[in-house]
Amino acid sequence: MKFSELGLKDELLKAIKRSGFEEATPIQEQTIPLALAGKDVIGQAQTGTGKTAAFALPILQNLDKHNKVIQALIIEPTRELAIQTQEELFRLGRDENARVQVVYGGADIGRQIRSLKNHVPAILVGTPGRLLDHLKRKTINLENVNTIVLDEADEMLDMGFIQDIESILSYVKNRKQTLLFSATMPKPILNISEKFMNNPEIVRIKTKELTADLIDQYFVRAKDSEKFDIMCRLIDVESPDLAVVFVRTKRRVDEVTRGLQARGYNAAGIHGDLTQARRLTVLKRFRAGKLDILVATDVAARGLDISGVTHVYNYDIPQDPDSYVHRIGRTGRAGQNGSSITFVTPNEIGYMRTIEQLTKKKMTPLRPPSDDQALRGQLKVAKSKIEEIMKEDLSKYTDDANELLENYSAVDLVSAFLKNLSKDSSNVEVKISSEKPLPYKGNGRGGRGHYSRGRNSRGYRGDRNRSRGNYRGGHSRRSGNGRNFIIKNKKG
Ligand SMILES: Nc1ncnc2c1ncn2[C@@H]1O[C@H](COP(=O)(O)OP(=O)(O)OP(=O)(O)O)[C@@H](O)[C@H]1O
Ligand SMILES: [Mg+2]
Repeated sequence: MKFSELGLKDELLKAIKRSGFEEATPIQEQTIPLALAGKDVIGQAQTGTGKTAAFALPILQNLDKHNKVIQALIIEPTRELAIQTQEELFRLGRDENARVQVVYGGADIGRQIRSLKNHVPAILVGTPGRLLDHLKRKTINLENVNTIVLDEADEMLDMGFIQDIESILSYVKNRKQTLLFSATMPKPILNISEKFMNNPEIVRIKTKELTADLIDQYFVRAKDSEKFDIMCRLIDVESPDLAVVFVRTKRRVDEVTRGLQARGYNAAGIHGDLTQARRLTVLKRFRAGKLDILVATDVAARGLDISGVTHVYNYDIPQDPDSYVHRIGRTGRAGQNGSSITFVTPNEIGYMRTIEQLTKKKMTPLRPPSDDQALRGQLKVAKSKIEEIMKEDLSKYTDDANELLENYSAVDLVSAFLKNLSKDSSNVEVKISSEKPLPYKGNGRGGRGHYSRGRNSRGYRGDRNRSRGNYRGGHSRRSGNGRNFIIKNKKG
């Protein structure tokens, strides 16, 4: 369906066009008219299908530009996601000069307060902890907020956040509309949500599978100690454009990142113990394609929209099946293809089955590539690099090249060049400290609710504390069969 049929203003249609969106996605088509009509909505649709614009556009449409009060509040689980959402709102609302501001922890609160005072935003985006800080200091006033959005609603209403959300809601005295969005919406959370919503319309984009259609899902059986080498070989063979590697602990983020760097990969890590500035810098470099591999805990699992992520590696299988859906959803977005590869140790097979029961999709077994296949993969990359170099002006090297050719054969010289260009570093030994594997679990779901989710710092909850153990927490093309909608992709 065309956006123009949804009853949106010209200014918004212009911004949509500028964003390169050609048609509304199913979740947009079905929720935008409801939200415009002022209804409460629960929207569930696969990752990467444009849920942000689904709530952003109706909010922008209904703003009263002349009223200098906060009219809409959007709550996000992580700082990075809050920033990203603010940017999307800003992009879509630019023609209307919509005032949007973001508040999140780890950033100077004094500066946020000054900015909120000088320039009251019409739309405020924030993380729960920092929003509460501002509310307690009375530096924001939510009494005129009409619309509240809980993005990643199931996460926001789960044990780690629910109290904060309830406190925030108590400040929104005249709330007229509540919008909930997520790719996953387990039943118990749906029940909680009814408590504070007003006859919500539930829009569920029915698809055969819970995971995005465009992601090819694989698993590799491996012992914990084998994972690192296998992953490096897989990266060599598959040569991802951009890849996200999810691991279980912060220590693992650091170790896997260092290991990848030692082997010549362009990788950096992100987790909750890093300063906010560092987290943002890493993410910025990854978005700009200056980093090839992002190693992360679940802090990066939800909502992040980075175009060009072709591969997600679950170095450690997630304990929570919903987390799997969100993690792999960092690829296969907005009509692009993607692959996910999940490492499963022998006693974690039960976790894999639980995930498959939730997603209704079986992962395809993948055999680890041999060293030779990995080298072939590297050489393929090296050869395309050579082709790139050949396009440059090489005249100043001719004399030395001729000198070398007098002493060595052309084949030997090219071989040396290839050796130099391919990072044959499998001999660089990397040791990743072992982590306790997830406890044995038989078949069957039932993980949800059996463990507590905690938060390690205010407003931030990427790495979860679990109650059990010390757990903290070549591109395949698909025919398109089984997809029941297509996102028209942005150009470029
Ligand atoms: N109608 C559309 N056509 C094409 N691209 C779109 C459309 N709507 C949104 N997009 C783009 O699709 C990408 C994914 O959108 P978004 O981040 O809102 O997904 P999501 O459904 O919220 O995913 P997640 O569940 O991971 O949070 C973004 O880059 C967005 O700009
Ligand atoms: Mg989202």
